[in-house]
Amino acid sequence: MATVYYTASSMDGFIVDENGSLDWLMSRDIDKDGPFHYDEFIKSVGALVMGSTTYEWVVRNEPGEWMYQQPSWVLTHRPEIVVKGHPVQTFAGEVADLHPKLVSAAAGKDVWVVGGGEVAAQFVAAGLIDEMIVTYAPCSLGVGARVLPVRSEWAVVETAVNGEFACVRWRKA
Ligand SMILES: NC(=O)c1ccc[n+]([C@@H]2O[C@H](COP(=O)([O-])OP(=O)(O)OC[C@H]3O[C@@H](n4cnc5c(N)ncnc54)[C@H](OP(=O)(O)O)[C@@H]3O)[C@@H](O)[C@H]2O)c1
Repeated sequence: MATVYYTASSMDGFIVDENGSLDWLMSRDIDKDGPFHYDEFIKSVGALVMGSTTYEWVVRNEPGEWMYQQPSWVLTHRPEIVVKGHPVQTFAGEVADLHPKLVSAAAGKDVWVVGGGEVAAQFVAAGLIDEMIVTYAPCSLGVGARVLPVRSEWAVVETAVNGEFACVRWRKA
């Protein structure tokens, strides 16, 4: 049972481009049965949390029913943004106060910090991320939202190539 920040990034550390687009990511070759693929990762997840910018991206780009089976939280000061019928809870405040609820809801499985970077940075700053997994696309963006806008130290434990991507798993140093 761990709290994991799992995300994809450009080579230069951006998770979304300046227009809020993930086209540079979605258009790539990846082996579904290969290392660090989302389909395998999501099986280990018991609960997840994301920031409101990420939630609003999901609402725009994956309309309809909520796409996750796991108990889900959105960090926001604007609970009214939650789409009717989405089984998500909202939270505003210190992530350390929310974390025990996430762990409990995960019921022995992992907690996934979906992102964005701003939210992941709060969890890292609070010492709550055990593991970070980044899948790097072979491109740079120059500008955009940062993968982890906080200073931190990690120990690398695994690297792999999957299709066009270079993947790295780190543990808290
Ligand atoms: N490449 C990938 O795999 C990947 C993964 C995840 C996200 N993304 C993309 O990254 C972008 C978002 O990144 P981001 O870092 O800018 O934003 P984000 O973390 O998704 O959302 C930040 C917003 O969440 C709310 N929030 C954050 N912490 C809070 C707290 N402790 N309490 C209450 N509210 C809180 C605030 O908005 P309000 O309070 O005003 O609502 C804040 O402006 C999105 O475009 C998303 O699509 C990409």
